[in-house]
Amino acid sequence: MLTFSFLTLFPELLAPFATEAIVGKARERGLIDVQLVNLRDFAGNRHAKVDDTPYGGGAGMVIRVDVAERALASLPEADEVILFSPAGQPFTQRVAEELSGKRHLAFLCGRYEGFDTRVETRVTRELSIGDFVMMGGEAAAACVLEAVARLIPGVLGDADSHRADSFSSGLLDYPEYTRPLEWEGETVPDVLRGGNHAAIATWRRQEAVARTLARRPDLLASADLTPQDSAHLLTLGVPDEQLKAWNAPPPPVPKRKRRRTHAAPLESPSPEDQAKVQANDPTPEK
Ligand SMILES: C[S@@+](CC[C@H](N)C(=O)[O-])C[C@H]1O[C@@H](n2cnc3c(N)ncnc32)[C@H](O)[C@@H]1O
Repeated sequence: MLTFSFLTLFPELLAPFATEAIVGKARERGLIDVQLVNLRDFAGNRHAKVDDTPYGGGAGMVIRVDVAERALASLPEADEVILFSPAGQPFTQRVAEELSGKRHLAFLCGRYEGFDTRVETRVTRELSIGDFVMMGGEAAAACVLEAVARLIPGVLGDADSHRADSFSSGLLDYPEYTRPLEWEGETVPDVLRGGNHAAIATWRRQEAVARTLARRPDLLASADLTPQDSAHLLTLGVPDEQLKAWNAPPPPVPKRKRRRTHAAPLESPSPEDQAKVQANDPTPEK
């Protein structure tokens, strides 16, 4: 079981993420545990004051390092103590996969100007969820909980469902459709209704490759591209040199037709077939 411990000044902000929807069910089923720790309980003073003014002056307040230290010490030892900060390592699917293999993650959610920098000596990594500044780390912690919990075996109903997700294969996900069949003049592609699973898989893979090329070409350099993907990228106008720069494998060599050693005598079409071809009928008889 993976335990998530959130150290925060606003546990009530995170409570619904811990109790509702799939995370709530996973918690009831004992697949994960979520602990909400109020930093104020470790203020160490009568007024439950956790912050102070910054040395050197300037706007805002800073959360005291000794408060964070006492709160962390109250927990069983964590595999990772993660500090949320705009200055952290970008949070990605790869990081989520790495974290999903741990047993206990402690999340330090900042507020105001953040924690006293000396808290970094207690931290295994700092994570940022994007190049923007929020008012607190709770929303970032909720993002990480949502992304990591769904990777834990048994949490999602369909064990395969996260494997095709954006980023898992190194590509963005393919487009999905459901009813109605037609909406505002847009119809579901025929291939998805034909029941040919191989054709559907090929279409989805090609759409994922095309989408990634159009929206996030930077991902292609680290995606697990196949020779068929390379062939598709060439048809999308990607030059050969670019494929090489992405370390994409060469496209499959088209099978050459075996040359006949003896020319077979040409049979002339029957007069009925000739008439059908002229009339543009696609089913001339053999
Ligand atoms: C107002 S911010 C502090 C910003 C800090 N002064 C800076 O400019 O880096 C308060 C807290 O929100 C959280 N936070 C804000 N933006 C974040 C982001 N992009 N990723 C992760 N956490 C963030 C952090 O925990 C941070 O300590």
